[in-house]
Amino acid sequence: MAAGMGISYQLPIVSYISFLALFFSFCTISPTSSTSLKDDFIKCLHRNTNIDFPLEQTFFAPAKNVSMFNEVLESTAQNLRFLTKSMPKPGFIFNPIDESHVQASIICSKKLDIHLRVRSGGHDYEGLSYVSEIEKPFILIDLSKLREINVNIKDNSAWVQAGATVGELYYRIAEKSKVHGFPAGLCSSLGIGGHITGGAYGSMMRKYGLGGDNVLDAKIVDANGKILNRTSMGEDMFWAIRGGGGASFGIILAWKIKLVPVPKTVTVFTITRTLEQDVGNKILSKWQVVADNLVEELFIRVIFNVAKNNGSKTVTTSYDALFLGDKGTLVKVMKKSFPELGLTKKDCVEMSWIESVVYISGFSSQTPTNFLLQGKSPFPKINFKAKSDFVKKPIPETGLIGMFKKFLKEDSAMMIWNPYGGMMAKISESQIPFPHRKGVIYKIQYLTVWPNSEKKPNRHINWIRDMYSYMMPYVSSNPRQAYVNYRDLDIGMNKRNAKTSFKQAQVWGAKYFKDNFSRLVRIKSKVDPDNFFRHEQSIPPLHV
Ligand SMILES: Cc1cc2nc3c(=O)[nH]c(=O)nc-3n(C[C@H](O)[C@H](O)[C@H](O)COP(=O)(O)OP(=O)(O)OC[C@H]3O[C@@H](n4cnc5c(N)ncnc54)[C@H](O)[C@@H]3O)c2cc1C
Ligand SMILES: *[C@@H]1O[C@H](CO)[C@@H](O)[C@H](O)[C@H]1NC(C)=O
Ligand SMILES: *[C@@H]1O[C@H](CO)[C@@H](O)[C@H](O)[C@H]1NC(C)=O
Ligand SMILES: *[C@@H]1O[C@H](CO)[C@@H](O)[C@H](O)[C@H]1NC(C)=O
Ligand SMILES: *[C@@H]1O[C@H](CO)[C@@H](O)[C@H](O)[C@H]1NC(C)=O
Repeated sequence: MAAGMGISYQLPIVSYISFLALFFSFCTISPTSSTSLKDDFIKCLHRNTNIDFPLEQTFFAPAKNVSMFNEVLESTAQNLRFLTKSMPKPGFIFNPIDESHVQASIICSKKLDIHLRVRSGGHDYEGLSYVSEIEKPFILIDLSKLREINVNIKDNSAWVQAGATVGELYYRIAEKSKVHGFPAGLCSSLGIGGHITGGAYGSMMRKYGLGGDNVLDAKIVDANGKILNRTSMGEDMFWAIRGGGGASFGIILAWKIKLVPVPKTVTVFTITRTLEQDVGNKILSKWQVVADNLVEELFIRVIFNVAKNNGSKTVTTSYDALFLGDKGTLVKVMKKSFPELGLTKKDCVEMSWIESVVYISGFSSQTPTNFLLQGKSPFPKINFKAKSDFVKKPIPETGLIGMFKKFLKEDSAMMIWNPYGGMMAKISESQIPFPHRKGVIYKIQYLTVWPNSEKKPNRHINWIRDMYSYMMPYVSSNPRQAYVNYRDLDIGMNKRNAKTSFKQAQVWGAKYFKDNFSRLVRIKSKVDPDNFFRHEQSIPPLHV
């Protein structure tokens, strides 16, 4: 026993010394700070690409120029919650200007064993594209300089690089044709790269389905740094990337999308009613019954806000619509299906499809359409937390009364109800990983926002969690479904800054993808078994 202890006492000394030796030699050749990490990365990139990258315009590190670094980091980041001082920052940011730079970035991150995050438009609800709270150090590959768009009207298609915004895409389509469009997101600053990976819905979803339903091909860099297209990646991987969530299978370089027909003239309207103006929730209750049954050309979403009405609080309910047709037809449709709203021709504005994009995006009506080319968000940057639900039977009056009571407890509360039906109900749950199809009447998004000056941000988070638990009896169950593009680290996880177990992943996996989750896991295990592409809620391979 004693001898044994002697031996085991000596061994650590030997290994301690060799450890020290190893440690020092390791130190001299290996990254110890983000500066040398960056230099090693740059050296490695040079070995793996023939296309030059001017460092001044492509590399941003805090040690070099912290204000420039922050500017680039914050440029497209939409949620201020993840830009606070205490949030971990990337060691450096690299903006590839050639596709080979993305390939080289993957090869070099692997070689240097640095965790990588990828960003296209920066709208991730939990900041996952620019903050890692689970791995240190990490670097940011920002695709904002890869934003070429090639529209081919003859072929009814377009190739769009990941860093382009949907606003730019819509503009480039409209520039070539007044009768073509694309059915993706409403907010013009969304990055097409990340957006389509989660499905991508917009105001033409009832007519044409999701952006993800209208993808023809893709160019993606896989975990080995290889560029693949639909043929070379195979139908499994091509299925997974159109709705299985961002940054799980590879880095999308570009999407080839299918254009859809739009009429020369479309019509929009916004009609707002306060609680007092909708006694007994007559209008809202009727909307719940008709929203998914209206003609497919008509999309009426409902936006709820807290407002002051003569000194007392109320909720404003705005019916915000796009109709793919003229106002005469629209008024007839509304008279027949939804007379309770009282729509008249005076409420309707006819315009081109691209003008409706600007309108629905939330810009003021004077905004010229070429504003879409600036990639700017129509919304001021703010701290926010959001959640989503899917509703399969109308919420009864008693439920609505309680809902509004809760809603009024939060000054900055917002809700958006988004109608389904139409094409959404015709596409099967297995077509792409996005499973929220037939039977869904509408989707709810809950939202709360607060400024940086807020002393108690947690009260907002607590409010939205409380709201979410109140709504449980009225929304989908087993699983309670959620939209992956409204990423929510509350679901299926104990805390946001811990790695998830496979068991936990199955919980959020079922909510975002229903049974499609298991196919996503099988595909992940095949195309990225070492889990190179990972974040707090990425699809896990089987053995992890
Ligand atoms: C103001 C606002 C409005 C929104 N409106 C809509 C809407 O109308 N319809 C809708 O469907 N959604 C909407 N969303 C949600 C939006 O679709 C998602 O946040 C989407 O992921 C954004 O894509 P992004 O490229 O802008 O974001 P990013 O933050 O850049 O990326 C999101 C996720 O995808 C990953 N990713 C980014 N680029 C790539 C790539 N090239 N290849 C692989 N993975 C990548 C990121 O790592 C991250 O995990 C909205 C979000 C915001 C903040
Ligand atoms: C650092 O970057 C800022 C832009 O954010 C620029 O104005 C400034 O001149 C830069 N400083 C140096 C020393 O390069
Ligand atoms: C896909 O890639 C393969 C192999 O690189 C190539 O032969 C083929 O032409 C590409 N297909 C398309 C449609 O671009
Ligand atoms: C506010 O109160 C005034 C006076 O009581 C009333 O005339 C007005 O209609 C009220 N406004 C709204 C929006 O209810
Ligand atoms: C996709 O999910 C749906 C809904 O849960 C399920 O019915 C279907 O079998 C899944 N498809 C695949 C290919 O896993």
